[in-house]
Amino acid sequence: MDHRKPLLPTSSDDAPNPRTRKDLVLMICGLFLLSSLVAFGGYRASNAPHADVSSPASNDEQPSPTSVPSPKWYPVSRGVSSGVSEKSSSMLFAVKDGASEAFPWDNSMLSWQRTAFHFQPEKNWMNDPNGPMYYKGWYHFFYQYNPNGAVWGDIVWGHAVSRDMIHWLHLPLAMVADQWYDMQGVWTGSATILPNGEIIMLYTGSTNESVQVQNLAYPADPSDPLLVDWIKYPGNPVLVPPPGIGTKDFRDPTTAWLTSEGKWRITIGSKLNKTGIALVYDTEDFKSYELKEGLLRAVDGTGMWECVDFFPVSKKNENGLDTSVNGDEVKHVMKVSLDDDRHDYYAIGTYDEKSVLFTPDDAKNDVGVGLRYDYGIFYASKTFYDQNKERRLLWGWIGESDSEYADVAKGWASVQSIPRTVELDRKTGSNLLQWPVAEVESLRLRSDEFKNLKAKPGSVVSIDIETATQVCVHDIKFLKL
Ligand SMILES: *[C@@H]1O[C@H](CO)[C@@H](O)[C@H](O)[C@H]1NC(C)=O
Ligand SMILES: *[C@@H]1O[C@H](CO)[C@@H](O)[C@H](O)[C@H]1NC(C)=O
Repeated sequence: MDHRKPLLPTSSDDAPNPRTRKDLVLMICGLFLLSSLVAFGGYRASNAPHADVSSPASNDEQPSPTSVPSPKWYPVSRGVSSGVSEKSSSMLFAVKDGASEAFPWDNSMLSWQRTAFHFQPEKNWMNDPNGPMYYKGWYHFFYQYNPNGAVWGDIVWGHAVSRDMIHWLHLPLAMVADQWYDMQGVWTGSATILPNGEIIMLYTGSTNESVQVQNLAYPADPSDPLLVDWIKYPGNPVLVPPPGIGTKDFRDPTTAWLTSEGKWRITIGSKLNKTGIALVYDTEDFKSYELKEGLLRAVDGTGMWECVDFFPVSKKNENGLDTSVNGDEVKHVMKVSLDDDRHDYYAIGTYDEKSVLFTPDDAKNDVGVGLRYDYGIFYASKTFYDQNKERRLLWGWIGESDSEYADVAKGWASVQSIPRTVELDRKTGSNLLQWPVAEVESLRLRSDEFKNLKAKPGSVVSIDIETATQVCVHDIKFLKL
């Protein structure tokens, strides 16, 4: 693409400035709360009347990035003089007389809210993770990105690479909306690495007529480890909504897996009335596809399925598996992102290749009604097989709990989760285990150890931490001596 942008600073370059205040907010968080650092101020979005900053799919009536939010939607914030920020105060106080009472937050005042650890572009709006993969020594991460503002819109593919998924090198946009078949947005997609090393990228385009179609792209120069340039296949789109499927209900192709007859198989989420469904296609060349009879899964009442993910997990050991692995020694995981409630649900079960069917082990915990990856803000997630370290890794989009008004003021919105390894809980067989990637350990700067400390209920143990913006305390071990 010709939309080269200068390299952005790495995320470590724009770590927030230390706060000068002595009265630090000491945040106690468990490992999994690492993923919620952005929700520093402490409340969960699920119950909050925050602006509906949906991913592309769900909402064609998004306000334009310049629209001014109605005062009715955005509760008044107290100001700096009260020692609070937009994030910590916005939901505590009801609206009184409209927006004129709101504190005029701006980018510099809110910049401390940027995360030091999570993946985040320098500025503007980000949503779904796209096409994650490991290639020639680099972890590649693409993401839904609005280059023009801090709210959803004008979506293209951002791109960054990393050796460890903690420190990032930001690259030029990988794909922009420059074709009729992705004019309204270069939406979510997945990478497949073929046995010969070739990379296939399938993504959803929203056409000039807002029809959701699937498109094929591939690296312009496979010898470039950074995969900076991408080519869109001239025969795009490769898939259009089949008969009976709504033109706006057909998106987010998965990574492909091999069938025993050597074809590639993908699934794409959709809905029929209120029933969430996953369509299945076979292909030999990623250019022409055969729609399979039947559905991988269909669950009444779950609504539109976005960002379907489908992968095997080992029953034998903790190693991750290539997406094509099948057989007695694996279970399959099917994950859907429910457009209606904005949560990611998974089910564990068996995959019958011949009948193109996923069957959950526990009917009560079917896809979209049972287990979730995360019970906080975590959506549109996607896994990939990391052939470098033989593990399956999970990325998820952590949207804002801020108002859209605050997002515009601070100039950015959303972070990505710390990537997590995912494996079957082999003790129960009924759920997955997730761990932050081992590389996250490189973020530890120091630890404090107290010997012979007697802590009674209510006692205070002070730790000299000088100044800091965010402090994460974990791995507290109590040893009886
Ligand atoms: C969209 O693009 C297609 C392909 O170029 C064209 O045939 C069609 O007329 C376009 N539709 C609109 C509304 O411009
Ligand atoms: C969807 O709802 C319509 C109207 O209620 C109905 O006619 C149709 O049969 C339903 N389709 C499916 C697949 O259930």
